Amino acid sequence: MARTVWDSSVGKKTVMAVSGLIMLLYLVAHMIGNLKIYFGAGEFNHYAHWLRTVGEPFMHYGWTLWLVRVVLVVAVVAHATSAYQLSRRDLRARPSGYAHKKRRASYATRTMRWGGVILGLFIVWHLLDLTTGTVHSGGFQEGHPYQNVVDTFSTWYGDVVYIVAMLALGLHVRHGFWSAAQTLGAGSRTRDRALKTVANVLAALLTAGFIAVPVGVMTGVVS
Ligand code: HEM
Repeated sequence: MARTVWDSSVGKKTVMAVSGLIMLLYLVAHMIGNLKIYFGAGEFNHYAHWLRTVGEPFMHYGWTLWLVRVVLVVAVVAHATSAYQLSRRDLRARPSGYAHKKRRASYATRTMRWGGVILGLFIVWHLLDLTTGTVHSGGFQEGHPYQNVVDTFSTWYGDVVYIVAMLALGLHVRHGFWSAAQTLGAGSRTRDRALKTVANVLAALLTAGFIAVPVGVMTGVVS
């Protein structure tokens, strides 16, 4: 049964929609949490510490965070695998007899593919920058994310990497949310306009909220 669903294109699209919505929920929470940087180092670092103690005493230190990490890894892998396989299927299904008639993938498909690749690379960079500190610009300090974030956005390339990635994220969420709603059957003639508006507002809020952090550091409001 699961095999049949996974093998069908609709099944893969459903996996993409559900995993995408899970990541979207995480991103909304992450964006709101990041804005706490405007309340100062004490509050931001305290929040990061809480991410490790949430659920205690039932959960051991760090367990809830690890649970979230596992869910995110499963979502990313499921999303990327189904995207890759759907894209291969799409290429195979294209008539190739007449070279001059070769159809190009639509604008939306191409932005989603490249946006997905950019976001995948960004996530790797971001984890090495602010979670493990491997590629961090200053002296990375475990447990002091406020200072780490300020260090990252005090370099021009840190600002460029994050701002470009956040713009890609906005475009990806805008189209992805809309596609997911269609796949999951929420679309209809009367609802489509509202769904488009929700997708646009959500994408704009996420992008603006995330970009507010490097902008805060660049303008000296956060230092
Ligand atoms: C300006 C934008 C962003 C800032 C300032 C930021 C900041 C941070 C910080 C400080 C951490 C480490 C938290 C800690 O260890 O307590 C973190 C972790 C993380 N961020 Fe971001 N982030 C941003 C955008 C994003 C985006 C767009 C994504 C996803 C597409 C993302 C995904 C993650 C993930 C997956 C983690 C790892 C969580 C974990 O396992 O500990 N972040 N971020």
